[in-house]
Amino acid sequence: MTALPTASETPTAATEHVPRAAYGCVAAAVLCAAAVCLASAPDAAGAAAAVLPTLLPLAALHTLCEIPSHRRPGRPGGGFFPVLFAAAFLLPPGAAAAVALPAALLGRVEQRPAGPRRVWRAARLVLAAWAAAQAFTLLGGGPALREEALPEGLVKALSAAGAAALVFCLALAALDGGMRAAVERMPVRTAWCGLLSAALPSYTVHGLGGLLAALLWNGPYGPVAAVCVLTPLYVSSRHFAASHRERAAHHAAVRALVQAVDIKDPYTRGHGDRVGQASVLIGRELGWDGQRLELLRFAGVLHDVGKLGVPTRVLRKDGPLTEAERRTIELHPEFGHEVVRGIGFLGEARSAVLHHHERMDGSGYPYGLAGRQIPVFARVVAVADAFDAMTSTRTYRRARPAAEAVAELERCAGTQFDPRMVRALARALRRHGWQPETTPETTPETTPETTPEAAAAAHGEPDSAAPGEDGRPGVDGNVSSASASGTR
Ligand SMILES: [Fe+2]
Repeated sequence: MTALPTASETPTAATEHVPRAAYGCVAAAVLCAAAVCLASAPDAAGAAAAVLPTLLPLAALHTLCEIPSHRRPGRPGGGFFPVLFAAAFLLPPGAAAAVALPAALLGRVEQRPAGPRRVWRAARLVLAAWAAAQAFTLLGGGPALREEALPEGLVKALSAAGAAALVFCLALAALDGGMRAAVERMPVRTAWCGLLSAALPSYTVHGLGGLLAALLWNGPYGPVAAVCVLTPLYVSSRHFAASHRERAAHHAAVRALVQAVDIKDPYTRGHGDRVGQASVLIGRELGWDGQRLELLRFAGVLHDVGKLGVPTRVLRKDGPLTEAERRTIELHPEFGHEVVRGIGFLGEARSAVLHHHERMDGSGYPYGLAGRQIPVFARVVAVADAFDAMTSTRTYRRARPAAEAVAELERCAGTQFDPRMVRALARALRRHGWQPETTPETTPETTPETTPEAAAAAHGEPDSAAPGEDGRPGVDGNVSSASASGTR
């Protein structure tokens, strides 16, 4: 229930208004769950007793796996479904559905009202487990799992388990999408979009884990062997969930900083994101990948976070800057470094925040580093920064074509920019192209129309120096640096 998140999805207790439509969805799910359970209930006491030796340990195991993540705020949550799949493969559909109940009903719920959220969590898992067990049974997976049917039955069991995982995923996607459509009043197609494709790979892995556990459960070592297999799966599942949540938290932190900069300086809104994209283009050409490329993107996105320390009246000044104002603006790399230096996960990206205005000839700021003294991330971001500044539309001029911007970068390679980074960007652009920013980054209502000189100085445009283009001097009085300087 996207509108009724499960306990572990929220770090603190809070009361949230629940729309009436959500209660309707909960009621419908409960009715459906009750109906399928009653329809699947064994019609004889003997049949019920026969499933209990499998149902009770699996329900206890599922509860043991789920409750810790519900009871510890901040601990990664998410379902651990191999136990449910094992139940779907070992038990009749009604009994498999019952395995999900204890954990779903006993687990902690962070947001209020807790009751409906618990009931929804239980109903959706009951329905999904029941549907998966039905699919497995209909495809003949049960007999194929018996010891006497192996190994010939393994292929059939695998096919049935794959189908069960798909059905499990479909059921949850349908329920969650239906809830989202009802609560957020969005088209059903939009609500369901992405739910299935995002979840199917992990459900398939969980289904295979469940099949393995079921095979061992039926084997000579019984439940003990199954638990031995499920334990490493459980540990890796929790580790993966922790990594996923940590990564999401990193992205949220970076996004918050970027939004703060965009609010403070709406004139260059979107510039950070584009510099991040251009930096990644360069990084890929250099053969970087994985975590390093991710950090490089962060570096590009956050390079001007130090604008937060520059007075807004200076950033938005409508007119030429005084020398004191220019010096204040040139402090933004150091302000930015103050902001990010304590953020450990940014790693190497922090050096780009501090040094993205250094120049290869040593005449940049804040420290006047030269050549390879300049951190490599900073050399990449400097090129991406200048490229985006030149290819973005400003209120006093339209964007330059990418080819023209690259020519300008090449002209300044060696003095201002690292030629290797410039060549990498040129190669990447030939390979992938670039969609230059063609719309003004702000509106007259939000930002005053500045003079070209003030805008270039305040926003670090290619000043183009453009001697000739605007007929104005470069920010630092140096034509080449001015012509291809990035945002401040
Ligand atoms: Fe900058």
